Amino acid sequence: MAHEFPAVFSADNASNLYYVSDKEGMPVSHVGVAKFTGVLDCARISMASIGAVCTLPEYQKRGLSTKILERVISDLEVEEVALMLVSGRRGLYSRLGCAEAGNIITAYFEKSSPQQAGVSHDTSIREIRREDFGKNVDKLLALYRCHRYRYSRSKELMLDLLKGYSARRKEVGVRLYEVLSCGMQAGYVLTSLGERFEREPGTLRIPEWAGSASSVISALPLVIEEYGVERARFQVQPSDINMVSCVRRLGLKTETGPVQGTVRPVSVSSLILELGPWFEEYLGYRVELREESREGWLLRGPFGESKLKGFAALTKWLFDPPPSGLGVPLMFTDDMNYV
Ligand SMILES: CC(C)(COP(=O)(O)OP(=O)(O)OC[C@H]1O[C@@H](n2cnc3c(N)ncnc32)[C@H](O)[C@@H]1OP(=O)(O)O)[C@@H](O)C(=O)NCCC(=O)NCCS
Repeated sequence: MAHEFPAVFSADNASNLYYVSDKEGMPVSHVGVAKFTGVLDCARISMASIGAVCTLPEYQKRGLSTKILERVISDLEVEEVALMLVSGRRGLYSRLGCAEAGNIITAYFEKSSPQQAGVSHDTSIREIRREDFGKNVDKLLALYRCHRYRYSRSKELMLDLLKGYSARRKEVGVRLYEVLSCGMQAGYVLTSLGERFEREPGTLRIPEWAGSASSVISALPLVIEEYGVERARFQVQPSDINMVSCVRRLGLKTETGPVQGTVRPVSVSSLILELGPWFEEYLGYRVELREESREGWLLRGPFGESKLKGFAALTKWLFDPPPSGLGVPLMFTDDMNYV
């Protein structure tokens, strides 16, 4: 686990690992927290990702995970962390106010279809092996930072995440390819063919990609060929007009849905404050917040007043696409930062 999820299981992060132990001091229930900064275009959001939630079978259904999560939320509130991302969708989380949110497109590129005719033929791919991650990290990070909605990653974090992802036991056949256009680096794709995706046999998953949309799309037939699979699936931000237009031009099959897992505002005042630059840039105004009760807020703007009750309602109001929500985009939550 430590190798696979370095952002959670590292000595530096030990104080963010919450657990209940038995009389002998052995942990029986655990919740892992990893703190990140989210970059939502011009806004930087303090975030905590929650994962590695687990209780030993003989201790389950006694409320241990619930109690630990309540403690995590209360600690994050004290720290004024704006948003919590949870890797699951179960009742355990929704009872604590976590809700599905956001709007992400999943696109499928099929091997044997006319789609291939529309891709550029001056594209090539080259696998970057684990031992060469260090040599390539600067250029990979520069490409990753082209995404407008992403996590903030230092060089060290990027390298740790690359090494961690390639070590994941559940994700069989993880490879990293650099994408070259006319011999120049134009992007990268991280690929994974894992047991998690048995429901979609023959589908190669691309948990992360970055760079020129047309070059990345043109690399897909080559990647599919390398793995000998039928199709590849990857995610696209609806606001990424370059990738969206490539997907449309090629007529790829798409599905649109919430981001992986669930989301919960923690410090609502921090969240509204940190989202301020985004509101101003994309809506043209700031949103004013008044906390009316522990889980009740009055939000004011040119739209008038919105009275909201409960974290799930607030999440939907912020992140659902208009007209029901303000449509603040979220980053991919199922990429290398997933915990
Ligand atoms: C999911 C998991 C972490 C829950 O741990 P837990 O300590 O049993 O969690 P809780 O006891 O707080 O809550 C679990 C259930 O027990 C119920 N429960 C809590 N206290 C209870 C009590 N005193 N008596 C009876 N039921 C109780 C809760 O209502 C909850 O019901 P649910 O089925 O609607 O979720 C545990 O089942 C597990 O480790 N599963 C395998 C790993 C996993 O799937 N992790 C989650 C990844 S997203």
